[in-house]
Amino acid sequence: MAIQIKSTPEIEKMRIVGRLSAEVLKMIAPHVQAGISTNQLNALCHDYIVDVQGAIPAPLNYHGFPKSICTSINHVVCHGIPSDKKLKNGDIINVDITVINDGFHGDTSQMFMIGKPSILAERVVRVSKECLWRGIELVKPGIQLGDIGHTIQKHAEKNGFSVVKEYCGHGIGRSFHEDPQVLHYGKPGTGVTLEAGMTFTIEPMINTGKAAVKLLPDQWTVVTKDRSLSAQWEHTLLVTDDGYEVFTQAD
Ligand code: MF3
Ligand code: CO
Ligand code: CO
Repeated sequence: MAIQIKSTPEIEKMRIVGRLSAEVLKMIAPHVQAGISTNQLNALCHDYIVDVQGAIPAPLNYHGFPKSICTSINHVVCHGIPSDKKLKNGDIINVDITVINDGFHGDTSQMFMIGKPSILAERVVRVSKECLWRGIELVKPGIQLGDIGHTIQKHAEKNGFSVVKEYCGHGIGRSFHEDPQVLHYGKPGTGVTLEAGMTFTIEPMINTGKAAVKLLPDQWTVVTKDRSLSAQWEHTLLVTDDGYEVFTQAD
């Protein structure tokens, strides 16, 4: 479907749901500790979204996804399914939250480090966040998606890491995943030209080893083929008349 340009009232709804999704991450942060299971994190987030926010966890039953959040540990790239597995010292984990409120979606994720991870793990957590922000800071009308992808890829590769090619950011609004696809690699001066009123995510997945990934038999969990570490951060944002607004920040 064509890229949806959001109206002012739609943008206000995106702002509200973006804040709600960020507030879930803020709520869960102190719980992301050694000894807790990802099912427990899922239950805390589910209950907060439903009972406190009066909103809907978008992943639950999305194309059959069985849980309300995604939890991706160490070599899991994305779409990890919460389970009874407990976090342990040295793990890195991405928690990905998508909330639906008043018909609109807000999508955000961040990394957490459990205890003291390796220097390499700390580096990929930091560099993937830098990749996200280098992409965000380019956003304004007239730039092209290839400019964003190129900047992210350059920063990852300069640090000796690789960019996952099979999964990307996406337009977002009334639907979880809308056009355009937001690739985290590419060539400057190519791809969709940004216009004010577009809303999309940037969510680079950065591996310490090779870029190749594989899908586990559960048909959801994506892992690095070489079992190297992977890290990801995600925000939902708006193209404004002169730049960007990040919707998924708590304050
Ligand atoms: N939140 C993910 C994204 O950033 C999508 C998760 S789909 C699910 O696009 F079904 F796995 F939840
Ligand atoms: Co997303
Ligand atoms: Co997400």
